[in-house]
Amino acid sequence: MPPRVLPTPWNLYNLQASPFFQESLESGDKSARPLNLFVGRRTELKRLLDGIHGAGENSSRQAVAGAPGVGKTTLVKELKALALENGYLATDELVPILGDDTPERLFGRVLSVLYDTILANRPNSGDNPAMQAAQVLVRVARLGTGGASISAFGIGAGVTKGVSISAPKELLLDGPRVMRDLMTMVRASDAQGVLLHLNNLENLSESDAVRAGSILRDLRDLMLLHGGLHYVFVGTTDAVSITVGSQPQMRSIVSTLVLEPLAVSDVHLMLAARYRHLRVEDHAPVRSPIDDEAVSTLYEFFRGDLRGLLKALEDGVTPLLGLEEGLDRALTIADLRPVLQSRYAAELDALPEQGRVEQLAKWGAQAPGTVQTQKSLAALWKISQPAVSQALGYLIRQGYVNALPRGSARQVQYELSGASRLIFG
Ligand SMILES: Nc1ncnc2c1ncn2[C@@H]1O[C@H](COP(=O)(O)OP(=O)(O)OP(=O)(O)O)[C@@H](O)[C@H]1O
Ligand SMILES: [Mg+2]
Repeated sequence: MPPRVLPTPWNLYNLQASPFFQESLESGDKSARPLNLFVGRRTELKRLLDGIHGAGENSSRQAVAGAPGVGKTTLVKELKALALENGYLATDELVPILGDDTPERLFGRVLSVLYDTILANRPNSGDNPAMQAAQVLVRVARLGTGGASISAFGIGAGVTKGVSISAPKELLLDGPRVMRDLMTMVRASDAQGVLLHLNNLENLSESDAVRAGSILRDLRDLMLLHGGLHYVFVGTTDAVSITVGSQPQMRSIVSTLVLEPLAVSDVHLMLAARYRHLRVEDHAPVRSPIDDEAVSTLYEFFRGDLRGLLKALEDGVTPLLGLEEGLDRALTIADLRPVLQSRYAAELDALPEQGRVEQLAKWGAQAPGTVQTQKSLAALWKISQPAVSQALGYLIRQGYVNALPRGSARQVQYELSGASRLIFG
């Protein structure tokens, strides 16, 4: 019996579900959001792949930096899929870097994902001595306790020494050697190397990012330079520049790709691919719920924030589903704009801190398109700079204001988010 699917209003457009989902794409044919929905970014992918191939037998380290929602995670997932096709080992798994990390903990997590990646791609490698030695350490890293040990006599060829550790803090004693043995094993196999994805530098506060940077620097020779091992770090522009850019020893070994907004023509292709993929009836025509001009107009508001754009499309289209007579036309920006404005205004009204909302409104009423600094906002709001900083923190967390990457500017600049520009613009 075919699976029974509840009808949704999207069926009116020959769609199984909302085509405006905001999650990143994932590998696997069975996925609801498969990577074959990926569009564009050919230059960026080529550059990243060249960085990996170009390393030959050595290692490589690259960072992908970009604004929130611009498509960083999805790009690296596509990169991993391509690397896999080229004979590298990779998995969907990614290694988070956490605020309270220590070198041992981060090393343990990386070793653990490296172990998983090899095992997932080469299920028969589990018996290999290097893998068995690694397993002892991975167990300690994951469970926090160990006590297991492997003696050099028990294991045999390819492994330089036995391992015996019982606590995570000892991981750095044997760990780097075990990692090197793993990579020697990989290089001796049919695989080209291993690609690891370290994500979410952006979740670190500024001081955490500085610390993460110094942890990576400490681990540089122990973890980052093993031949055949390829790292991609992902985070917002500021997070990447603080983590890898502020340490000379790191800056010299990591090359950074700054991800620009996806071109609007690619955004149209992205949506077309989603409409096609989500068809209910393969034979019935693909129907776009919304016209191209509306997408282009909203694209301008969100300036590269694809997640924000997709959410606005979903928020704007969903309430109108089924309300348009006969559905013989796609929705226009004139249909969407009032829905979005009243929805986002209602969300603002519901915020507990209405003082902040008044400040936002003042900015929006005066100059919605301009960038501001803490100083110019202090003048606009007639409050002290520390108070401005607090207000901004709140408005950024709520998604109404974006901080621009610092770059060479002396003062951080702020702009209204796409949602705010929709309300006030
Ligand atoms: N090249 C692309 N092709 C198709 N869809 C994409 C592409 N890039 C991004 N998307 C879609 O845009 C949305 C945001 O992408 P993604 O999650 O990768 O952004 P991000 O930069 O990692 O965001 P965050 O800053 O929140 O981590 C997702 O729904 C994703 O599927
Ligand atoms: Mg992401």
